[in-house]
Amino acid sequence: MAELNSPVPASGTDWLRWHDSYRTSAAMRWRLRSVQSYIADCLDQAPPGRVCVSSICAGDGRDLLPVLRRHPRRADVQATLVENHPTLAARAGRAIAAAGLTDHARVLCANATDPDTWRPVASAQVVLLCGVLGNVRDGDLPRLFANLAALCDRRSRLIWTRGLRTLSPPTLSRIIDGFSTARFELCRLRVRHRAQHLVGLHRYNGTPTALPVDGALFVFTGPLPQTGRCGQRA
Ligand SMILES: C[S@@+](CC[C@H](N)C(=O)[O-])C[C@H]1O[C@@H](n2cnc3c(N)ncnc32)[C@H](O)[C@@H]1O
Repeated sequence: MAELNSPVPASGTDWLRWHDSYRTSAAMRWRLRSVQSYIADCLDQAPPGRVCVSSICAGDGRDLLPVLRRHPRRADVQATLVENHPTLAARAGRAIAAAGLTDHARVLCANATDPDTWRPVASAQVVLLCGVLGNVRDGDLPRLFANLAALCDRRSRLIWTRGLRTLSPPTLSRIIDGFSTARFELCRLRVRHRAQHLVGLHRYNGTPTALPVDGALFVFTGPLPQTGRCGQRA
């Protein structure tokens, strides 16, 4: 079910074209496989009962939806994909319908940085933050990490990606330290030579918090400038 209720213009980036890179880039395919295997592991390990999944800036849902389609826990899942690009949200909605997941997944075409978007969404056991960190300035990372707790349940798993080409060593430290300060414990981290991406899995060890009354959860700036430093060959 696609709920195209609040289309918000995306940043200056052509996000439709960005999604084409899944077809043209082996590194993106590696990233996708990595995210999907983490999602499957999280579902495998989820305790019995309902499993809520939230995807922040979900794109067309190609990471989550194919995993849900074939996973034995699919009947337990309630997934919410938040994506503000109307075409991508509509694609995700069609993928949900094609996979027979309309009772288990929905798309909100809405602003993922707005706390009001998340008020009707249950705390999630699995949170996806893929393709987001490379669009958030260093100075805004602490706010993002602190607010993630409001989307999480106890012991939630959070899966994230970060491109290496725009990642400097200080920013990598801010990400790892920022998760840790916000009580997300690093469980797994994947990187492969020439893969150009980090894919991480954290567990939330704090208590769920309330969504802020006002103010954005984070600021999505669009892609940050290249630094190349973490992505360079040794
Ligand atoms: C780098 S892409 C990642 C897409 C997807 N998570 C993935 O990894 O394939 C970033 C996505 O965020 C979406 N986006 C940008 N700003 C947003 C906002 N404020 N609320 C919701 N989605 C947003 C874009 O339209 C784009 O689809």
